[in-house]
Amino acid sequence: MKKNILEYLRNNRESYISGSYISRELGISRAAVWKQIRRLRREGFKISARPNCGYRLDEEPDHLNRPLLEEHKVYYYPVVDSTNLIARRLAEDGYPAYTTVIADEQLQGRGRLGREWFSPPHSGLWFSIILRPEMINPAAAAPVTLVTAAALAGNLNHTHHLPVKIKWPNDLLINGKKFGGILSEIKGEPDRIEYLIMGIGLNINQQGKDFPQQLKDRAASLYSESGQSFNRTTLFLSLWQDLCRAYKLFFKEGFGPFRAQLLAYNSFIGREVKVTWPEGTLEGLAWDLDHDGALIVRDKRGEIRTINYGEIN
Ligand code: BTN
Repeated sequence: MKKNILEYLRNNRESYISGSYISRELGISRAAVWKQIRRLRREGFKISARPNCGYRLDEEPDHLNRPLLEEHKVYYYPVVDSTNLIARRLAEDGYPAYTTVIADEQLQGRGRLGREWFSPPHSGLWFSIILRPEMINPAAAAPVTLVTAAALAGNLNHTHHLPVKIKWPNDLLINGKKFGGILSEIKGEPDRIEYLIMGIGLNINQQGKDFPQQLKDRAASLYSESGQSFNRTTLFLSLWQDLCRAYKLFFKEGFGPFRAQLLAYNSFIGREVKVTWPEGTLEGLAWDLDHDGALIVRDKRGEIRTINYGEIN
């Protein structure tokens, strides 16, 4: 039934088609037509309704292409609690490095510092990659978040010509607004990493009105800021290939090759910042990045402080 209604809408894309016409043609009540329209909308079809005119199909949902993803050994799920949790379970079960989990929707998407990450269906990229950096100790792996940010920003600037910047250490900005974030989780011992989970969330095709009220002023998507919409599968594969390349280089050569890229796409050096870090807060001038990606800040008294872990405003 849903499919029939969809056929009518698809064959009438240019104009409105009346609910009573569909109900007569299909021999169902108008209420039944309305119910199906509601269901299609829940599945991501954008359907406008106009009094006395009927319904018009404006946009089909961008479904992630499961067969294509699975060809690349990327595990696709329509709905999960959090891709980081699924990836962690796979890592515990011994799945190899670069195993990746992607979901269309997350019900308990998680951000840094215990925050929630809004992850609605059909609109963003929510994925987690398992890494197993065998030769590296936990301290040396710390810049992996920055490597992730550099690879994502590099791809979006070069390949997709989008003015994406990085806010140290894990935020991706477009036009100064956050559209993406990275949540890395580690399992290991003081001298050995068993695995790392790199969780990446990117708002892609959402419109401004799709964000919940409390995020409306702050959140953005590539679409809301650039006016371009993206095929999420194609975009994901392009980003994912660059990410895997970047991780391999990082595990071989360290953070060195990424520092310049991070500086090129940074949104913070030379700015007055307020840093929240485990020792409290600190105000000063973001001065530079050290060889491991730690943030160097010149505080109000002119002292140079090196911050390995924290957040800037
Ligand atoms: C942040 O900026 O606070 C980090 C957000 C990270 C969100 C991604 S979406 C995929 C993965 N699964 C999660 O639950 N979180 C990360």
